[in-house]
Amino acid sequence: MADTLLKAKAIIKEFGAPVPTRVLHGIDLSIECGEFCALIGNSGSGKSTLLNIIGALDRPSGGQVFIEGIDLAGLTDDELAFFRNQTMGFIFQFHFLLPQFTVLENVLIPHLIYRGKADKSARDRAMYLLEQVGLLHRRDYKANSISGGEQQRAAIARALMNQPRLILADEPTGNLDSKNSAHIFNLMRKINQENQTTFLIVTHDRNMAFSADRIIELKDGLIVRDECVCGQDPNQMLAVIEPLY
Ligand SMILES: Nc1ncnc2c1ncn2[C@@H]1O[C@H](COP(=O)(O)OP(=O)(O)OP(=O)(O)O)[C@@H](O)[C@H]1O
Ligand SMILES: [Mg+2]
Repeated sequence: MADTLLKAKAIIKEFGAPVPTRVLHGIDLSIECGEFCALIGNSGSGKSTLLNIIGALDRPSGGQVFIEGIDLAGLTDDELAFFRNQTMGFIFQFHFLLPQFTVLENVLIPHLIYRGKADKSARDRAMYLLEQVGLLHRRDYKANSISGGEQQRAAIARALMNQPRLILADEPTGNLDSKNSAHIFNLMRKINQENQTTFLIVTHDRNMAFSADRIIELKDGLIVRDECVCGQDPNQMLAVIEPLY
């Protein structure tokens, strides 16, 4: 039996005061090591909120998140930051590279956060990752002087720097054209297959969703669909999945 990487139990999230609005209504979700999952749903359905809670960027109002059996609620903020740095990689729609630093320096940042300096092995790993994402030739460029697709590839390399077991991606191709989107998707798939890295990817891109192993759909803060799509014909599935926008 595969190991469980993530277990979310009865996750509730409320925002606002004095009258709180509940946006997640009790999410139960379990993801095995090495799974490649798409998280879909209409705008406002709670995808980013759930991803942020799973990634310990935000705390739930109720329920528990376990990553590799560790209850995130039991960690202090400092412990949580360290755990996140070691276990998870984040890829966002807008990559949040530091513009004044080079591509190589940006990739090294997750390492620098907990080590303070980068030794040769860290630099070698960053170079290896840049090669993997096809950006070795851009390593000394400032992050704001490369293209949008290149910046997103650099963000993927950065997310992989500390060899995370879980990658959380929130619309990673949302601001890219179809050619660059396909490139980024294939890259994430390759990383998943070669390293057994687990992925949970929020996407509005139908092709990307159907190329995942599993589609999880949120509606109004609840999971309304959770199914394996491995090997299924997207065209046949169109009838059962509503438009993603
Ligand atoms: N910090 C916040 N304060 C108050 N309400 C919030 C906050 N963050 C999210 N919400 C609300 O929670 C609901 C879910 O938002 P969320 O960003 O998770 O949706 P989403 O599914 O990611 O949407 P999209 O596809 O547009 O990114 C929305 O109604 C949103 O307005
Ligand atoms: Mg969102």
